[in-house]
Amino acid sequence: MIKIDYTNVMADIIGERDGILREELLSFRHFITETHARIKKEKENKFYFAKLPYQDTEDIKEYGKYVRENFDYFVLVGIGGSSLGTQMLFESLKWINHNQFDFPKFYILDNVDPEKVASVLELIEPEKTIFNVISKSGSTVETIANFSIVLDLLKDKLGDKWKEHIVITTDTEKGFLRKFAKENDIKTFEIPSKVGGRFSVLTPVGLFPASALGIDIDELLEGARKMDLICSVEEYVEHNPAYLLAMIHYLANMRRGKNIAVMMPYSERLSSFVDWWRQLWAESLGKDGLGQTPVKAIGTIDQHSQIQLYREGPKDKIITFIYVENPTRDLKISDNIPEDIGYLKNHTLHEILTKELLGTRAALTKSKVPNLTITLDNINPYNIGMLIYLYEMATGFSGYLYKINPFDQPAVEEGKRFMYALMGREGFEEKLEEFNELNKD
Ligand code: PA5
Repeated sequence: MIKIDYTNVMADIIGERDGILREELLSFRHFITETHARIKKEKENKFYFAKLPYQDTEDIKEYGKYVRENFDYFVLVGIGGSSLGTQMLFESLKWINHNQFDFPKFYILDNVDPEKVASVLELIEPEKTIFNVISKSGSTVETIANFSIVLDLLKDKLGDKWKEHIVITTDTEKGFLRKFAKENDIKTFEIPSKVGGRFSVLTPVGLFPASALGIDIDELLEGARKMDLICSVEEYVEHNPAYLLAMIHYLANMRRGKNIAVMMPYSERLSSFVDWWRQLWAESLGKDGLGQTPVKAIGTIDQHSQIQLYREGPKDKIITFIYVENPTRDLKISDNIPEDIGYLKNHTLHEILTKELLGTRAALTKSKVPNLTITLDNINPYNIGMLIYLYEMATGFSGYLYKINPFDQPAVEEGKRFMYALMGREGFEEKLEEFNELNKD
């Protein structure tokens, strides 16, 4: 179960300078009805992510089980939309003790930071490791570079058996990885061609590693289906949480100057959820001089770092708190503590965390900083599935509000092209000239 409380973004609480008027939300009714119909049609194309909760996952679960039973290490090689979603699933649904006490131990090779890559490769035992190489394009330089290192290691340590230690998740037809998999008869999973990287967590990109790690992917998709159902209601904006989230952020941004969207979970297990959302929000909506800068803060840690700025700095932020009602465990402070700190007697850490959130939220509201609270009863696959779908749909809908295409990333691609040119890749000679032109003194 998840709840969204948006009381503190409304003008009747924080004033018209910073808060949104109910009439403003209602004035979008016509737009919502029209856009809703367009989205319904687009579910076969750009909004294909909305169909993912209904896919057949038998092959994924079967292979996931095989990996769980036969390997001690699972190493994901991929970056951006090909890793952030899985990192979020791992950290929210397995958590930090996993690699100490459970198998397969999980690592991600995203960056081409040699110290990190070398450290991970030192930790694992190649003969007990499955490497899942994930890339929609099949050619992202970081992924291909790390894969090349892994390939050398596997061939060196395992000889002919190297192929049994690789699973490739990539586009159905295009790209180097698809070709490589075909030529070498390697197990593959497909990323539907209509689903872009940052919307792909509910494809085999996220589902296969999750399944191999023992995460209940049926529940994850069940949660996403539930949110799809909720988001199909068109009559009142209040009934469609995805559209509501999108409109609140859009109005805060375009009419109240809130150029920064902060997401602040009071649960460290949701830290990577924010990383996943940051990519979704930034890469999808940062176009044509528009968009909000997504910022991560963690409660309570950032109360001691960022909140001063959020309260008394520029009034350019809207905050989303995420609160978890029932953590899987809690710790109680005994009554056997010094009298000087007696006010803490018999309280639990979760109680303190909760009150810290309430205190921070009250302080921000007092300073007229718009804030919403998303409450989860628990962190479980069902609720995470709901949250994923909620934010994906909010992002897609925001594209219509901003009148931009939320599904491309031309600026990211441009950086990739310069990079290929600098590495001397064939076909990028003109790009190298352009680079040299830009960099001449
Ligand atoms: O959202 C996106 O499309 C990007 O962030 C990609 O996920 C990222 O660049 C990695 O691309 P690929 O999966 O093609 O390796």
